[in-house]
Amino acid sequence: QDIQVTIVGSSNVDITALMARLPGPGETVLADSYQLSPGGKGANQALAAQLAGAATEFIGAVGKDSHSEVALGQLDGAGVKLDRVARSSQPTGVAIIQVDSGAENSIAVVSGANSTMTDQAVKAAGAIDGILVLQGEIPASGIKAAMDAATDRIVLNLAPVIELDRDYLLKANPLVVNEHEAEAVLHQLNPHLGLRFNGRYERLAAMLIEEGITSVVITLGASGCLVADKFPAENGGAQVRPLPAAKVKAVDTTGAGDAFTGALAARLANGEDLVQAAEFAGKFAALTVQAHGAQASYPRSLENL
Ligand code: RIB
Ligand code: NA
Repeated sequence: QDIQVTIVGSSNVDITALMARLPGPGETVLADSYQLSPGGKGANQALAAQLAGAATEFIGAVGKDSHSEVALGQLDGAGVKLDRVARSSQPTGVAIIQVDSGAENSIAVVSGANSTMTDQAVKAAGAIDGILVLQGEIPASGIKAAMDAATDRIVLNLAPVIELDRDYLLKANPLVVNEHEAEAVLHQLNPHLGLRFNGRYERLAAMLIEEGITSVVITLGASGCLVADKFPAENGGAQVRPLPAAKVKAVDTTGAGDAFTGALAARLANGEDLVQAAEFAGKFAALTVQAHGAQASYPRSLENL
């Protein structure tokens, strides 16, 4: 089957400890349990795209260690194409994650093999098939090389936010970011603005469009998301549509944003428009926050969507 979505990005092993409350600086808390599970924003998005119905390839790098099997296990099982995943002499990426009983988390990522995904490595991988999905967990040079090789639309989830030249930021269609990331990207595009949005996120989305990004999705957690693009009419400015989220009880939001981005890309690849795709992605992501882990919580069947 032809690949519809290609993810160039990170894969990690997530070491997640569950605890009543997160420790403060210098504090020790006793945690209840821990899990070792596959994660990494790129790999998470690849699994979500595949489960949401798109033939998906993941291009990334893992180590030659035993963690690499954990990192790729779910992708392999779900049928994601992995032929172009490199084996690095650096260790497989690791994320140290703490999750409290209120579903709050803190995450530290040790990039390891992901840091070898430079322009050289991405160019060596070759052609990009279908919609390209990128995140901010590999070097900027690798992101730019992937964008240069793309022949279809580019979904850019700039999480975490890293420096990218204006020309490259403007290739995003859509840019998928949360409200904090959206402010940081706007600042990169126009450092003179110096605005604080405090909840006025429709304005923030509109300003990203006014700066020249073709389309933007701002994810707002339990409040859903905003979908923004240019009015079809000439000189029409930006149109912004809020899409509310279903009310659910969250136990672990790790990887929910990645689930959203991957599902969104899959639906775009299957011909839906951005609003339809974002509606589906919101429902898909809402399922994932109700179970622990990132990939472990992604729905294996689309029956309830
Ligand atoms: O977005 C969640 C992901 O961030 C985790 O799976 C972890 O690996 C980090 O990359
Ligand atoms: Na989850």
